Amino acid sequence: MASPTSVQQAVKTHYEKYVYPRFPLLTSVRLCDTYALNLDALWARLNGQKLEPRDRQILLAGCGAFSPYPTAVANPRAKITALDLSKANLARAKFHTRLHLHFNARFIEGDLIDAPALFGEKRFHFIDCYGVLHHIPDAVSALQAMHSLLKPGAVARIMVYSAGTRRSVQAARTALRLLRVEDVSTIRRLHRKAGADSRFKACIDSNYEAGFDWGLADMLLHPYAKTYRLDELLDSLAQARLEPILFIHPNALPDPDREIARLGDLERSHRLNINFILLAGRVEDSEMRSIWNRRKASEDTFITLNPVIQKSLPLLPFKRLKPSPKLGFENPPLDFKTGRLLSRFKHLVRKSSLEPVQWGTVQPHLQALFLTETAIDQSV
Ligand SMILES: C[S@@+](CC[C@H](N)C(=O)[O-])C[C@H]1O[C@@H](n2cnc3c(N)ncnc32)[C@H](O)[C@@H]1O
Repeated sequence: MASPTSVQQAVKTHYEKYVYPRFPLLTSVRLCDTYALNLDALWARLNGQKLEPRDRQILLAGCGAFSPYPTAVANPRAKITALDLSKANLARAKFHTRLHLHFNARFIEGDLIDAPALFGEKRFHFIDCYGVLHHIPDAVSALQAMHSLLKPGAVARIMVYSAGTRRSVQAARTALRLLRVEDVSTIRRLHRKAGADSRFKACIDSNYEAGFDWGLADMLLHPYAKTYRLDELLDSLAQARLEPILFIHPNALPDPDREIARLGDLERSHRLNINFILLAGRVEDSEMRSIWNRRKASEDTFITLNPVIQKSLPLLPFKRLKPSPKLGFENPPLDFKTGRLLSRFKHLVRKSSLEPVQWGTVQPHLQALFLTETAIDQSV
């Protein structure tokens, strides 16, 4: 078996060749679609606190060639650290972010496992590790590194491939390896020749990214792509003293324990068709999060707008918006009428000042993270 160091080198070499994701440099994101990356909103949701404006630290752990840009759009005043193994991905991400006039990200070449040594005393409020851990042989060490870099109350977003969902891709990868296929053009040729009902063809046709060389290479030529069973993922998190706070893949239930039970059932009956996406936090902060959840349910709170949604409101008289779902469920549409309802929350509003019928209309927007709640007494 190859050593972790040689696998890591092969992963780096892969991304130096196949920049991922290689979106055209003029690709822009709609401001409203970045709502779930906004740190103030996430922090309020999980901790019930307002963040100090001057101290917002975000780490993109394995940033790839694009994610610093939408993260900067969502958090124009945060300090973003974009870390990646690949020089080519970093260079592309830097160019894309700066071309769109965002200058609050710094770009660092390095291995996530070495990040605690690299960053010294620095700690982050939010670590985004999306689609990265399954490319790291010692994922537990990577998770432990993330744990040590999280501030108290901080959150990590994690996406890993699920074994159930990736079965056909893994079978195609194994077949190509046995055939010693190592380039995209040969895969394209095999795809053209494949019969209409072949599983290889279906596997490629069902993946949007496979339409691009960088996506096809990531899917089928990657030197290391592990898939996770639910228990393996939970076990790896537990070894790093991290725990799921909220699953955010499509159709996830809001309660993590119930979602774990649901995923287990789907996995056992071979019906799982999503990769795992979740927000995780330090086990040490569990009690703090529970206290806030209890207080939120029983005490008065302040409600205010997610800053990203607040900035999108001026568009609503001209255009109906429906932010793309990022928390696992369809979002309520934002139209002129909703815009008027939400404008009231440009300033802090006490929950106790809302009529029951108003509370009914506000709740879906709180769940969607368009609105956030904070404790009235921040000192507790
Ligand atoms: C599939 S891409 C995902 C990129 C980005 N997170 C996104 O969602 O678009 C995986 C990225 O992780 C980086 N990566 C893999 N192993 C890493 C490691 N040990 N340390 C830092 N970055 C790593 C790769 O270079 C690549 O850019």
